[in-house]
Amino acid sequence: MSGHKMKRGGMNSRQGGTGPGSARASARRPEPWWSSAVFYQVYPRSFADSNGDGIGDLDGLTARLEHLEQLGVDAIWINPVTVSPMADHGYDVADPRDVDPLFGGMAAIERLIAAAHQRGIKVTMDVVPNHTSSAHPWFQAALAGGPGSAARGRYFFRDGGGPDGALPPNNWESVFGGSAWTRVVEPDGTPRQWYLHLFDPEQPDLNWDHPDVFDDFEKTLRFWLEHGVDGFRIDVAHGMAKPPGLPDTQGVKTGVLRHSDDDPRFNHPSVHAIHRDIRTVVDDYPWAVTIGEVWVTDNVRWAEYLRPDELHLGFNFRLSKIDFDAGEIHDAIQNSLAATALESATPTWTLSNHDVGREVSRYGGGEIGLRRARAMAMVMLALPGAVFIYNGEELGLPDVQLPDEVLQDPTWERSGHTERGRDKCRVPIPWSGDTPPFGFSTCADTWLPMPQEWAALTVKKQRADPDSTLSFFRRALELRRARSEFDGGEIEWLDASRGRLIFRRRGGGLVCALNAGRRPMALPPGELILSSAPLVNDKLPRDAAAWLV
Ligand code: GLC
Ligand code: CA
Repeated sequence: MSGHKMKRGGMNSRQGGTGPGSARASARRPEPWWSSAVFYQVYPRSFADSNGDGIGDLDGLTARLEHLEQLGVDAIWINPVTVSPMADHGYDVADPRDVDPLFGGMAAIERLIAAAHQRGIKVTMDVVPNHTSSAHPWFQAALAGGPGSAARGRYFFRDGGGPDGALPPNNWESVFGGSAWTRVVEPDGTPRQWYLHLFDPEQPDLNWDHPDVFDDFEKTLRFWLEHGVDGFRIDVAHGMAKPPGLPDTQGVKTGVLRHSDDDPRFNHPSVHAIHRDIRTVVDDYPWAVTIGEVWVTDNVRWAEYLRPDELHLGFNFRLSKIDFDAGEIHDAIQNSLAATALESATPTWTLSNHDVGREVSRYGGGEIGLRRARAMAMVMLALPGAVFIYNGEELGLPDVQLPDEVLQDPTWERSGHTERGRDKCRVPIPWSGDTPPFGFSTCADTWLPMPQEWAALTVKKQRADPDSTLSFFRRALELRRARSEFDGGEIEWLDASRGRLIFRRRGGGLVCALNAGRRPMALPPGELILSSAPLVNDKLPRDAAAWLV
């Protein structure tokens, strides 16, 4: 069954209006497909392996699309699959217009796009404009060209400080730990210039003031859109424009995998001109969506990315950053809605991704973590806008405590073994069977080891169990797409006190109740259509949520 092909129609409240313009109501455009879509994020290394090398790939994903169709998602976002030495598992791109053989090459993505579309699932890809791989031909030409060469102008090459130029050009630190500068050995065999990499040394930052950079990025966008993709997730979308002169940062709070709003290396005002240029290209493909990874917390500055001539959607990480606390959840939702309202944009929601630990573990792990994760999924799915589900979230997977020797995230080495990094939330998906690799691969030696306890969490087991997390997600997605009570772009708070959160969708009338307090909670009036845990004496137990119509 592919009911999601028959999405309800309807208008978005932001396109309506009560002012003089509302006389033109009949000319309102229908909502774009992404405005209430459920996106499913596929971390391709970890989804399904088709050729037995222990690493997931695109044919593996294509073979498992039935799972996503049954789950009822509208679109997938695939993390980078383009040609890469995989220093940052694909976020170090050596050729943005070809698929890495590890993932199956171009033919495999063509098969994936066709098969996904046949099932009514859209395909969005990751693009990485901020940097390339150090193996990219441009960077190789820059190394070979030497100081002052035209080829170095596409990146940030600078002489160092100190008497011998042996000190980095400024005090910037890499997001992955250590200096953001690496010194190169020049073609004459002597060490001299340094180049900038906000992430790994294998990810040199591009100089977006150089005209080749946008021209090439435009080619990449058009290349994939002509191949039938439905849009892009834009990596580090707030990072491409650097402050002129690359001045030292003063008193900025940074840390491994962390930066704050006052960090001048990100969110420079001139980044918006780049987004406007990107939008003029994407507007040639009216179905396509752009979703920016924008790590900016200030509402006003974040919303600037969603002006009508910039990005369609911006990731909103607020729910991925807070505890299971009613006050924090209320404020995160309010703030998120207030931020998107500044530009009449579409809200987005995400509980976790490949960079952020899994919510089951963040909420305390074990039974309680899982209960809370299910409850929060209901809160997220009850909200207006687009939703992002990270692969494995629908199975209730927790983070995995991996031994030191298997860690692969560059942050582990670069932080001097103080930050374990993101591998914990990237462990392959368990599909079936009682022992690793649980149908993920035919090779027991998967790229990250899979825990034996996941025997209880396989897709196959959960499919057969009506009370499983997977069955719960399927039901929730089914209700969300089928019922008109989920319509409308605004919510109204009915209660937000003493650990309780109750809100109503103004348009359709759905009521979502969350009990994050200590005592069982009486349900608000209405017909219960789903709860994340069984009611006890007609009351909603703690750490649970319910939907009523
Ligand atoms: C983004 C990606 C992250 C990657 C980084 C550098 O934050 O989500 O996984 O390491 O960019 O490309
Ligand atoms: Ca493989």
